[in-house]
Amino acid sequence: MAEASDRNEDYILEIEGISKRFGEVVALEDVTFRLRRNEVLALAGDNGAGKSTLIKCVAGAIEPTSGIITVDGEVVEIGNPRIAKELGIETTFQDLAVAGNLTVTQNIFLGREEVTGMDSLLGILNKSAMKKRAQELLDDLKIDVDVDAKVSNLSGGERQLVSISRTMLSDPKIVIMDEPTSALSVEGADRVLELIERMQDQGISIILISHNLEYVQQAADRIHVLHQGRSAGVIDNADADRDEIVKRMIGGMPDEERSEQPANA
Ligand SMILES: Nc1ncnc2c1ncn2[C@@H]1O[C@H](COP(=O)(O)OP(=O)(O)OP(=O)(O)O)[C@@H](O)[C@H]1O
Ligand SMILES: [Mg+2]
Repeated sequence: MAEASDRNEDYILEIEGISKRFGEVVALEDVTFRLRRNEVLALAGDNGAGKSTLIKCVAGAIEPTSGIITVDGEVVEIGNPRIAKELGIETTFQDLAVAGNLTVTQNIFLGREEVTGMDSLLGILNKSAMKKRAQELLDDLKIDVDVDAKVSNLSGGERQLVSISRTMLSDPKIVIMDEPTSALSVEGADRVLELIERMQDQGISIILISHNLEYVQQAADRIHVLHQGRSAGVIDNADADRDEIVKRMIGGMPDEERSEQPANA
């Protein structure tokens, strides 16, 4: 049993031995996963490897069957999305949730209770305050979209940028992005990669899930590979070779590393 004091302070998030079963399906099996402070850590793996399941456990969207999650050295139970947000964890999910009939500002503030906490008699003021804050947020991230535009009128790439910028509203410590570039053109994906770099410059620790290994290698400091619900190892991007990543994605953890686990995480 690891005490919080045994843990390495360089890690902002540590997931120890997490498992998740959906009935008969074993989505995650004893995975140890650690995110360093201010790094971009890519989570790679084939379809069904367990990537979304892992990050949903951290986002409070699903409850793991077993395992320990530590944020900033404290063991936490992330029973719902609100707790994740309170811990400074923001997530953009694979099934992108933007509301087309609302404006950019409305989307950024969607579901943010703290805003509706303001005096409802000051509704108009509230609206202009939200618009101002949305504009600041987009300016900070150098995103050039009109805060009054209906999201249905934006391109897929612009929607993705709005969805990512939403995560920055609450001044998060950790931002998790599940396939932020999947539906995008090369240019759209490049803008998302630039945005990730800017967020890292602002001190945020980032988990990036992507099937696109070219983008993964452009953006990530390290790459954690999952294979059929198990960890297939962590590779430093500096010495990562594409074939090595693919080999782990297809074949899992190499035998010679299996005995060393989990010290390699
Ligand atoms: N709510 C659920 N109910 C039942 N099984 C599920 C559920 N969510 C995920 N699974 C199963 O768990 C396994 C891991 O799924 P997960 O969505 O985490 O994979 P992934 O790595 O994100 O894949 P992809 O790259 O396709 O997004 C799959 O076998 C999937 O069918
Ligand atoms: Mg997924």
